[in-house]
Amino acid sequence: MYARVIKALSLLPAELASALEPIIEASDFDSTISPEQFEFLLSTTQMTDTELRLALLPIAASYAVVPISNFYVGAIVRGTSGRLYFGANMEFENASMACTIHAEQSAISHAWIKGEVGIKDVTINYSPCGHCRQFMNELTSANDMIIQLPQREPMTLQQYLPDSFGPLDLGIKDGLLSDFDNGICIEESSELAISACKAANRSHAPYSKNFSGVALKAQDGRIFEGMYAENAAFNPSLPPLQVALINMNMSNYSLAEIAEAALVESAESKISQLARTQALLEALNPDIQLTYVAY
Ligand code: THU
Ligand code: ZN
Repeated sequence: MYARVIKALSLLPAELASALEPIIEASDFDSTISPEQFEFLLSTTQMTDTELRLALLPIAASYAVVPISNFYVGAIVRGTSGRLYFGANMEFENASMACTIHAEQSAISHAWIKGEVGIKDVTINYSPCGHCRQFMNELTSANDMIIQLPQREPMTLQQYLPDSFGPLDLGIKDGLLSDFDNGICIEESSELAISACKAANRSHAPYSKNFSGVALKAQDGRIFEGMYAENAAFNPSLPPLQVALINMNMSNYSLAEIAEAALVESAESKISQLARTQALLEALNPDIQLTYVAY
């Protein structure tokens, strides 16, 4: 049961809260809203599309894991399929600030994990920072995407990021969320490493060719995959462990439930995910066993 999310219902207008409650309490709720459910919420509340997305932001923000700032950022993205995906910021004690996940990155990765190939719009409760604007400029949909903030007119990402630098400056045409397979195969029997390899196959690493993926196993045996999301400006790249942690958090698992991890990466690229992955796992729980495969 999504207790923190149910608690956030009290922050919503009463009519919306009562229409949303059965959706969140359903056993198959996965932190997304289908186009049909969204239509139902629109007709029940008589809100406009924008009003409804803004009204849902406290639900997104309730997923935040913020032991450092206690600052709850929520984001909702709508994929090309019309489904809405929640996302929230995540901070990590005893780790570097660079490990922080922004709400926009969380919602976008959430949509990517579940198979979206583009983002139509992003709704956020605070203005997206420069780092997120750059991160979003990597997307297949960067030129048409709408950003919606409370008390603001909808604007395109390019209006929020004039004279932008992006993949095309480095000659890259396939953006983040392109549906491709990197064709990696590993000879490794562990189920977790095979899951990490599956993630590496979906990773976006056109600059370093460090196709990499992480898989986390929870104490109850469920496996969460995370793909590496590289950025043309290099620094805003989102490591594969972060995407796996987003996957876990949006599935309502606590990070204290990680039992085991696997990282699969290319042995031939000029960079490596190993040191960063080890450092953050160590900060989360020094007892987590990491399997490492460099193919
Ligand atoms: N934060 C976001 O999630 N998105 C933004 O673009 C602004 C900042 C988060 C990061 C950190 O967890 C907290 O807000 C304070 O900066
Ligand atoms: Zn940001």
